[in-house]
Amino acid sequence: LREGKDKTIKTISSVAEMQARADRIRQSAKRIVLVPTMGFLHEGHLALIRSGRSLGDVLVVSIFVNPTQFGPGEDLEKYPRNMERDFALAAQESVDIVFSPDAGDLYGQGFETFVALQRLPMHLCGLSRPNHFRGVATVVAKLFNVVQPHVAVFGEKDFQQLQVVRRMVKDLNFSIAIIGHPTVREPDGLAMSSRNCYLSSPQRRSAVSLYLALQGAQQQVEKGIRKASELISSAEELIRSYADTDIDYVAVCDPETLEGVDTIHRPVLMALAVRVGKTRLIDNMILTPR
Ligand code: PAF
Repeated sequence: LREGKDKTIKTISSVAEMQARADRIRQSAKRIVLVPTMGFLHEGHLALIRSGRSLGDVLVVSIFVNPTQFGPGEDLEKYPRNMERDFALAAQESVDIVFSPDAGDLYGQGFETFVALQRLPMHLCGLSRPNHFRGVATVVAKLFNVVQPHVAVFGEKDFQQLQVVRRMVKDLNFSIAIIGHPTVREPDGLAMSSRNCYLSSPQRRSAVSLYLALQGAQQQVEKGIRKASELISSAEELIRSYADTDIDYVAVCDPETLEGVDTIHRPVLMALAVRVGKTRLIDNMILTPR
């Protein structure tokens, strides 16, 4: 047990212990809120945690770098980790329980059951990260079964992930309210991400291009531009004008289905993924015509 700002934080690493604790909390008619994370907490996570505080009685933050959502050659091994710091931050935010399972405990021997969506992963990040959303949906379903939350909070920066989770919850009848939280940004607009720590100073300067491209698209839409292809070309041009950037995709799509949209008559999602040096960054914005 560690002392937080105004209460004691419990850290649990055993899956069985977390499940038993969740059973007891539910029996006492208390509402459980889960904020799932992969750790290396930053202000974006802390905003999710703070919003989660008011949504129930027992606030659980899970910290688990989920191997099944990383592809071969991705950054699983070097994904940033700092458990001590994460525990201290969670304690400061009055988190009740930090759940940090081992991969071997969460994915027991002989594991072979995955949750895979059919359509949502066929767009945006799913195209260059095959199996990523299968890994995300699977681990989120497992965390839901272990932590048994009434409410779970996810960041809108990972917009496709949020839609995948919402769809899974509907399709598999989880009785859990999914709350999306707006993206938290650095003062220059860069979306907060644990991966930002990989960026060198010149790369950090280039990383702002994602946000500037989105902001530029919103301004164009407000001026009356309605063709998605025009918005995409301008965004790509802006991003390419920054050093060391390599565009994976810039897309304009329906915010629910993530299907591409050609003409903008209603709010659409602009989503993008850009490699800055070796670091793959994503961001998105809802573009709303006047
Ligand atoms: O967004 C993340 O940090 C992860 O994808 C999540 C939701 C914790 C699942 O591993």
